[in-house]
Amino acid sequence: MCGIVGYIGYRQSTDVLLHGLSKLEYRGYDSAGLAVYHQGSITVRKFKGRLQTLTQDIANSPIEATVGIGHTRWATHGEPSDANSHPHANHHATIAVVHNGIIENYLELREMLMKEGYRFTSQTDSEVLAHLLDKLYEGNLVVAVRKMLKIIKGSYALAILCEKEPDKIVGVRKNSPLIVGLGESENFLASDIPAILNYTRNVYLMENDEIVICTQDNVTILDENDLEKQPDIFKVNWDAQDAEKGGYEHFMLKEIHEQPESIRKTMLSRIFEEKDYVVLDDVKITKEDLDRFQKVYIVACGTAYHAGLVGKYLIEKYARIPVECDIASEFRYRNPLVDKCTLCIVISQSGETADSLAALELAKAQSARVLAVTNVQGSSIARAAHDVIYTWAGPEIAVASTKAYTTQLLCMYALSMHFGLLTQHLSKQQYAALRDELFDLPRLVQQVIATDEGLHALAKRRKNAEDIYFIGRGLDYYVSLEGSLKLKEISYIHSEAAAAGELKHGPIALIDQGTLVIALLTQDELFNKTLSNIKEVKSRGAYVVAFCKENAEIIRKEVDELFVIPKAADDVAPVLAVICLQLLSYYFACERGCDVDKPRNLAKSVTVE
Ligand code: F6R
Repeated sequence: MCGIVGYIGYRQSTDVLLHGLSKLEYRGYDSAGLAVYHQGSITVRKFKGRLQTLTQDIANSPIEATVGIGHTRWATHGEPSDANSHPHANHHATIAVVHNGIIENYLELREMLMKEGYRFTSQTDSEVLAHLLDKLYEGNLVVAVRKMLKIIKGSYALAILCEKEPDKIVGVRKNSPLIVGLGESENFLASDIPAILNYTRNVYLMENDEIVICTQDNVTILDENDLEKQPDIFKVNWDAQDAEKGGYEHFMLKEIHEQPESIRKTMLSRIFEEKDYVVLDDVKITKEDLDRFQKVYIVACGTAYHAGLVGKYLIEKYARIPVECDIASEFRYRNPLVDKCTLCIVISQSGETADSLAALELAKAQSARVLAVTNVQGSSIARAAHDVIYTWAGPEIAVASTKAYTTQLLCMYALSMHFGLLTQHLSKQQYAALRDELFDLPRLVQQVIATDEGLHALAKRRKNAEDIYFIGRGLDYYVSLEGSLKLKEISYIHSEAAAAGELKHGPIALIDQGTLVIALLTQDELFNKTLSNIKEVKSRGAYVVAFCKENAEIIRKEVDELFVIPKAADDVAPVLAVICLQLLSYYFACERGCDVDKPRNLAKSVTVE
């Protein structure tokens, strides 16, 4: 999604802005631009395409400046083009604005401004902001910004530069993230922390409706009533290089390899080897609360939704509370039955996904208790929820989610076991057995990752596959959904996942001679059932690649290829199976020459609907 960087200080601002924007590339974008104050006026440079085009332009024709704003745009209103790129400026380019989010009433504002003689050069909603500020400006940028906030509707993070006040950059946010980086004789604005980590670790996470005024030596935060507020500075405790590739060819591969560690970290100080209870510091839900909840909704998008499906299975099994798992963009528009007897669990890696945030707000407005499972401290979803579990996966840069998903699963285990103990549907012995299984996971995950040549070889042999189907039952079905999503998003191979028992109700019509079917059989009780489905597709000519646990190799003769994952309890096996599918997707994408970390049309953080 779009990225913002703002800088004021003593360095060459184009360097800082370009560096910051490069750290936000992972969010996905289709154009990039910047505006700097130089010799009494604002210069804007912006281009469709990769950041490299902008970097090259600046290299060809450098601009001396120590203040500026930059942007990477992911098109929503208007195609990707030079004109639609940000920054947008008023007619004489005395005010420049970069914007993330959507101005919902932009059409009516555009019409009003055009009637007053303002000329528009782009199709974007964001351009109205530059002209509106021009109209409202009477010698004080902050006053004009405050007036504008009373007029515009929608979601936004903005950074603004004004020719008449070149000693400052001004920022504001509503439902779109914006952070302030505080340095020595320099200050920064950004939509995400990696953009500024090279320069400072002191960060302020802005609240909705606040205005920030950054000068070279000062940061002033005004609350919604324009009262000055003492910022609560947060120290970033992870390294810039945590967000770098660290020797791997792609971020995705690095992040797959980080999973033994991220899983360990997620358990740390929550599940203890010798103790028979879970500690979830930021979850204050009591047994009385659980008795009151008549229903739990788990709401999320994409991969996080797939983690939610596993969560539903686990909570229903261990705590015996009915759970519905919903896609956030569906949930928010279907008038769900939510009230004070509802617990709504929102899962989101970024904590900024627009649909998930809106679903959360809806549940809150209808008096539900809201629990967030997220990877980003201080994200909008974390802040809006009553209770939070952080996944502690570290920054996830590759667009395709891997370590965030498995740590979301770990949070689902911890939460469901906690609920199970509170409701007393999970005995201490059952708890202890599960806990021991979880503690063994990092070692088993390491084992899976270390034996990936077979997966690579399979991808090499079948790289020209046009369709790949995944089948499984129970938890294996949920993992199939995730495996299929991973494969299609990075390799662009058409893929679907089917509950194996559903095959004969439709999907089996697609099976033909040589069709590649990936079957998961990690659930002991469902093993024979899935085996029957394998026979069904085999008899229609499918080429079946199966994944099963140790000691289940009897199916070797029933399938074309077999991958054996380490022995683990059925309930934790999804973590091992999904890592095989992540690796398989990764190798398929590499073999097909795809841009693994930045698949086409996708963004890391989907902050618009
Ligand atoms: C797929 C993927 C997406 C995200 C989805 C939700 O690999 O990453 O499907 O899972 O966009 O994002 P978050 O978790 O940030 O809410």
